[in-house]
Amino acid sequence: MKRNTSWIILLLIVFAAICCQSPKSNVDSSIDRKWWKEAVLYQIYPQSFKDTDGDGFGDFKGVVEKLDYLQSLGINMVWMNPFFDSPLVDNGYDVSDYREVLPRYGTMADFQEMLDGMHERGIKFVLDMVVNHTSVEHEWFKQSRSSRDNPYRDYYHWWPAEKGEPPYRYSLFDPEGAWEYDSLTNAYYLHYFADAQPDLNWENPKVRQEVYDIMKFWAEKGVDGFRMDAFQYVSKDTAFPVWPEGYEKDFNKYCGMGPDLHPYLKEMYEQVLSKYDIFAVSEGAGTTFQDAHDLVDADRNELQMAYHFESVGMSRTTDGYKLAEFKKVFTRWDSAFADKGWLAIYLSNHDNSRLVNRFGNPSPEFRTVSTQMLNTFMLSMRGTPYTYYGDELGMTNIDMPTIEEYVDVSALGDYGKAKAQGKDLDEFMVQLNYNSRENGRTPMQWDDTPNAGFTTGVPWKRVNENYKEINVAAENQDPNSILNHFRKMTRLRKDNLVLVYGDYHILQAEHPDIYAYTRTLGDQKMLVLLNFKDHDSSIELPEAKGIREILIDNYDGLTNENGKVVLKPYQAVVCKIE
Ligand code: NOJ
Repeated sequence: MKRNTSWIILLLIVFAAICCQSPKSNVDSSIDRKWWKEAVLYQIYPQSFKDTDGDGFGDFKGVVEKLDYLQSLGINMVWMNPFFDSPLVDNGYDVSDYREVLPRYGTMADFQEMLDGMHERGIKFVLDMVVNHTSVEHEWFKQSRSSRDNPYRDYYHWWPAEKGEPPYRYSLFDPEGAWEYDSLTNAYYLHYFADAQPDLNWENPKVRQEVYDIMKFWAEKGVDGFRMDAFQYVSKDTAFPVWPEGYEKDFNKYCGMGPDLHPYLKEMYEQVLSKYDIFAVSEGAGTTFQDAHDLVDADRNELQMAYHFESVGMSRTTDGYKLAEFKKVFTRWDSAFADKGWLAIYLSNHDNSRLVNRFGNPSPEFRTVSTQMLNTFMLSMRGTPYTYYGDELGMTNIDMPTIEEYVDVSALGDYGKAKAQGKDLDEFMVQLNYNSRENGRTPMQWDDTPNAGFTTGVPWKRVNENYKEINVAAENQDPNSILNHFRKMTRLRKDNLVLVYGDYHILQAEHPDIYAYTRTLGDQKMLVLLNFKDHDSSIELPEAKGIREILIDNYDGLTNENGKVVLKPYQAVVCKIE
């Protein structure tokens, strides 16, 4: 009798296990599953996230304080902008010591506490590797510039002045170009970014070895990924030929993706990435699809993920972007990676102004629904979604109409360029006010207490005055907030692998207002409907006749008459279909 009962219990357990199969076990075994593909990434700009010591500057302890918040978002990977020792000419993208943390962020022990706290909550951590250049204050550069025969001389690119002026090189930040004269050794050094950010010479094997050692140092501490800053520029034509006038419009083609990039990447993979359960994402994906593929093709063993600039690139002026172009860009990039390779999906980061200002509608009437729609888009596409801090709340741009308030080296550089070229500076300021990356770096808005709960001191950057309405505490209370919608979307993505790996298929690509697509994986099929406009819009779709269940909706229902769907302004719907 006892034996029979055990059998029955065992059978019940097996039966229950079959019935309660998680969506994950339904997945086609040919899919190359990876944790970093299934993750939702959240980007933290550490300076602006949370300050705990009152110096007006975010810190590791601040992130520790907010770990439960991060977990509540349903994200499972954090990319943090650089926090290494740095004179902060470019807010940390000018590193003076790769093995030390900037004291303003805390100690290495604080860093470790933060990292461990993330891991305890199932959150992976991505480190920003800034190794196309260092700070002028890095010891390597101090040595390098000290004399022509210093052993570190070849760590950087030098042009001896007796050869005459070096061929003009455009600098992304410096109006005066990418060569800086250094009287100490009567030579010029190369810097694609600011003059305080000299480019490393990757042709020197010692430089590459230093970089791999640094990566191992952090991998041993437990970081799970590397974001390779400005990586397409590490291999360059160091014969420094004279290039045709205006080449800078094609900067990436001329100045990046040099012939040695792939060998360097293979070496990095062998020495570092292959040794850990870790991934690397490249900032920039080259200039062609082939470039992008070659960077992330799993069979080549180089990088694992890349992000391109085409999507953010279309939104940089007050003229706005065209939905038709938006759809084309995302559809093209998806098709390029349909069979092999993997992409990041993002619409904003620390190099851009706020998501809702560029792609949505920041007016009081539409800020909530339009941000929800954009977050629905990012979290329902193929590729790893990257959400920038504050976009889960719909944080907006601030108003900075005059150049005096700007501190960003790139904004100041662009202003200098516009002035030198005799451009209309009033018009320049209108555009800068709209697209400056300082808009996206204001302190995180936690609550409606002074300085949005970011600091008890004076914040390094002024808080957006709308913090009394737009903040975590307020949005937590509201079931229909952007924040709670974001949480619903991360949960949906986690529960439905079709949203991660499913084939993407655009519907009615020419529709002027609505972006509609399906995602299909085995017998699972989802339909995503997004109205990008501030008015009702309708679309007729045979797929909508087969709607089985609406899983996400930022309004209260969908008008659907036999496949003729009417979407309200910025309505975003994700449904299961037959
Ligand atoms: C790209 C980074 O995203 C940006 O913030 C930085 O200024 C440049 N690289 C230089 O490191």
